[in-house]
Amino acid sequence: MTQVTREHWASRTGFLLASIGSAAGLGNIWRFSYVAGENGGASFLLVYVLCVLFIGLPIVIAEISIGRAAQGDAVLAFRSARPDRPWFVAGGLAVAGCFFILGFYGVIAGWALKYFVAALSGELWQAPQHNHYFKDFLAQPLAPVIWQFLMMAVTTGVVACGVQRGIEAVNRWLMPVLAAIVAVLAAYALTLDGAAKGLNFLFAPDWSALRHPQIYVAAIGQAFFSLGIGMAIFLTYGSYLARSQRVPSAAALIVVGDTLLAVVAGLAIFPAVFSFGLNPAEGPELAFITLPSLFALMPAGHWFGTLFFGLLVGAALTSMFSIMEVPVAYFMRRTGRSRRAVTLSLGAVIFLVGVPASLGYSILATITIAGRNILELYDFGVANFLLPLGGIATALFTGWGWGRIRALPGADLHDNATGKIWLFCLRFIAPMFIAIAFFSNSMVLD
Ligand code: PFF
Repeated sequence: MTQVTREHWASRTGFLLASIGSAAGLGNIWRFSYVAGENGGASFLLVYVLCVLFIGLPIVIAEISIGRAAQGDAVLAFRSARPDRPWFVAGGLAVAGCFFILGFYGVIAGWALKYFVAALSGELWQAPQHNHYFKDFLAQPLAPVIWQFLMMAVTTGVVACGVQRGIEAVNRWLMPVLAAIVAVLAAYALTLDGAAKGLNFLFAPDWSALRHPQIYVAAIGQAFFSLGIGMAIFLTYGSYLARSQRVPSAAALIVVGDTLLAVVAGLAIFPAVFSFGLNPAEGPELAFITLPSLFALMPAGHWFGTLFFGLLVGAALTSMFSIMEVPVAYFMRRTGRSRRAVTLSLGAVIFLVGVPASLGYSILATITIAGRNILELYDFGVANFLLPLGGIATALFTGWGWGRIRALPGADLHDNATGKIWLFCLRFIAPMFIAIAFFSNSMVLD
């Protein structure tokens, strides 16, 4: 039988855009704004940036390196790096985790699409009260499921076209468009009357807030979610990278791109929130209730709002491709079936995994644990348990399992200060801080 050659990115830029697209998603806009809003803004941002630098970046480098070395999916990559140890379980966890992540992610992406279309058609601006608008939308059993289906269908369609012709091709034009939209939104928000208050909130830390342990736990969880680490996403994208492409500089660009996108989205959101005297600590509903009512009042707010939800949809999509690619790569190898067949079946399964989360506001609303409905449980479980677990596994594997001798050259690093710091972060810093966050979250759930 002829060996089918593995797909590869057409260019380094394509890989970088797809990876930044993967990292930058609902996490940077929908989640970052409400988590930063709830945790004091600037003090949170400070801790967040430290988490990204000392935990996020080392893990992104590790993931890309493991994938590039193996030129294979999550399970194969861990297995080929250490055939003698059961590290492949970490790959299996990632593949399984992606079903849940994409399941609920697709639901929120569906809300974003609904809001984008409603903003375009004008329906959103006629709603007298946006909290009712949102709650009425979610209380319908069918509508949220249909919007979720549409987002999953687009994702499935693009991923089915392949790494170069689907994922890379779409990211190549969509990412520059999204960057331009977020820049325009921020530039406009900064001209509003209350912009200074928004800037203060985001950049002038209240040092006393650093005494609250919650801020650290929230920052680690957000760093994991926003970068999308621990679930073999960068590992899988890295497996389509030619061995000649250098990893550390690519990882640094991805991490900087992701953080910039969150901060610039914050620059679009907080000045506007403060200009209209609203509360930034509204929780997950910030993007869907607080912001639309604000857009309705703001000069040129309809344009602003339409662009904002367009940005949310585009950012969500480029992330959905990457989450989907993890199980697609695995099942293509395991079943030997074509990309198209595997993607279609997985798209259907993942859609179904998400349906209960969609229905958690209507017919399944009575199912709650510790006050959280099904979607909130998915979100909480993913950010606070699944990703940290995957993150610890990746860090420990690279730091200890793969070992200095193989890991350093595997990541294009050397036995110098940079290489030592990288290994130290993976061996000690990341596992320790993730474990602390993990256990404090277990206590929150009780
Ligand atoms: N990093 C992306 C985001 O911030 O939305 C996508 C993502 C991947 C979210 C993996 C969550 C996750 F577990």
